[in-house]
Amino acid sequence: MIKIAPSILSADFLRFGDEIKAIESAGADYIHIDVMDGHFVDNITFGPGLVESVKRITKVPLDVHLMIRNPEKYVEAFARAGSDVITFHIEATKNPIGLLDRIRTMNKFAGISINPDTPESKLSPKILARCDWVLVMTVYPGFSAQKFIPEALPKIKEIRKILDESNYSKIELAIDGGVKLDNIAGIAGAGATVIASGSGIFKTADYKKTIQEMRRVADIASK
Ligand code: DX5
Ligand code: ZN
Repeated sequence: MIKIAPSILSADFLRFGDEIKAIESAGADYIHIDVMDGHFVDNITFGPGLVESVKRITKVPLDVHLMIRNPEKYVEAFARAGSDVITFHIEATKNPIGLLDRIRTMNKFAGISINPDTPESKLSPKILARCDWVLVMTVYPGFSAQKFIPEALPKIKEIRKILDESNYSKIELAIDGGVKLDNIAGIAGAGATVIASGSGIFKTADYKKTIQEMRRVADIASK
């Protein structure tokens, strides 16, 4: 079954605790937390302090998406804060292999993310051997509520093929950016196993209904 990770970047910040609770009772599989530094992307969002606060009020695993330069400098802080998955960008570091190893050593799921312009060939066997999670960006990172880039679909299919054929089929194939109820079927059909969605959930009236519908549609498409 597809896993749904609502991205709290689209939550109402004035009612943040309530939003976390609402998404938990709506059945979220993960809570996706977008960390942006104003350098790797043109936006600034949350730090380890926010992760720590969210951890205190929910049992839903925290999927922390680092869109920051020099992620090696911060992974320990995010691990200590209670992240369950720590994903960094392959474009943001010179030593992705070493960093994946460090994240796993801290007993966290290690994730690697690739931008829309980064080819799947960058996911070398040495990288795949060390990661639990591949996050494919389907918008240019930085902001919520952007339009899904349709050219990403063949890329998702290709990565699905690489994972299945190379015995890494246990790696989660997560998709992030512009996913909504009306396009989730194609994405699940291409082989995604986790969907991060911000505005596609938080800008709807009934989170539970949206998540259930997303799962239903995705599961039919991925059969
Ligand atoms: C974009 C973030 C996404 C974003 C998704 O840089 O990484 O996680 O919050 O938001 P939507 O689903 O609205 O595109
Ligand atoms: Zn994200």
